[in-house]
Amino acid sequence: MIEIYQLYKSFDKLAVLKGVDLTIYDGEILSIIGKSGVGKSVLIKSIINLIEPDSGKIIIDNIDVTGFSEKQFNKIIRPKFSYVFQNGALWDSLTVGGNIDLALQIERCLDEKERKLRIKESLHMVELADIENVYPDELSGGMLKRVSIARAIATRPKYLLYDEPTTGLDPVLANVINNLIKKLNDELGITSVIITHDILGAKNISDRIAMLYDGRIILTCRADEMKSQDNEIFNDFIKGKVIFDDN
Ligand SMILES: Nc1ncnc2c1ncn2[C@@H]1O[C@H](COP(=O)(O)OP(=O)(O)O)[C@@H](O)[C@H]1O
Ligand SMILES: [Mg+2]
Repeated sequence: MIEIYQLYKSFDKLAVLKGVDLTIYDGEILSIIGKSGVGKSVLIKSIINLIEPDSGKIIIDNIDVTGFSEKQFNKIIRPKFSYVFQNGALWDSLTVGGNIDLALQIERCLDEKERKLRIKESLHMVELADIENVYPDELSGGMLKRVSIARAIATRPKYLLYDEPTTGLDPVLANVINNLIKKLNDELGITSVIITHDILGAKNISDRIAMLYDGRIILTCRADEMKSQDNEIFNDFIKGKVIFDDN
C-alpha cells in the first residue's frame, strides 16, 4: 500500500502539488485523471523518488520513505516499482532483448540464463514473440508500447506506474494496451497506477479513479460510480469524454 499525505511540490514560484492526499491499495488499478500540466507526472515521479517533494509524507508498505537517501530508496523501495514512461524510453542502440536485459541487469539478481528466460516470458506476456533481436526503430508505436511494458514487468514489480500509456495511439491500439494493463494486473497481481486522458478506457479497466485538480486530489471514486458523483469539477471534466454504455 502507498500512502501519500499532504504532499507539496513547487518549482520556483510555480506551486504544482498543494497538499495531495492519496492512498493506493494493493492489487488495485487506480487511474489518475486531470488536465495537462496539473502535476500528474510530478505526483508519480515523487512516489519513486525521481522528484523530491518539498514537504509531506510518503509511506510505502508501512515504511516512511520521506527522509530516505537516494541510496536507501534504491536499495529498499525501488525494486518494488517499475515505471512506463510516456515516450516509452527505449534505447535505440539496443535490441528489444537488450533493452529488457539492461533493466534486469540493474537488479543484479539473475544470471544470464535466467535473464534470457525472463525476457522471453515478459515478451510472451505482452503477446510479442521472437522479437528479441529486433531494434526499436523497426517497431510500430503499439509494439513499442508493449515492449516498454514488457521491460517494466520483467523485474516483477509489485507496483507499476504508467504515464499516459495510451496517449498517441489510435482507439484500437489504446484498447489493446488497456486490456494488457488489466491482464497484467489480474495475472501477475501488479498494483497499477495509470495517468491517463482516456476516460472511457480508465472506466473500463480501473478499480478506482482519482482526479488531480489545482494541486490536490479533489475526488476519488470507484470506476463504476463515475457517473453518479456530486462534484461539479469532476463531472465537467469527464462530460463529453465518456459515453456511459449502461444508460
Ligand atoms: N523538473 C521540473 N522543473 C520545473 N518545472 C517542472 C518540472 N517538472 C514539471 N514541471 C512543471 O510542473 C507542472 C506540472 O507538470 P506535469 O506533472 O508534467 O503535468 P501533467 O499533469 O501534464 O503530467 C508543469 O507546469 C511543468 O512545467
Ligand atoms: Mg504528464
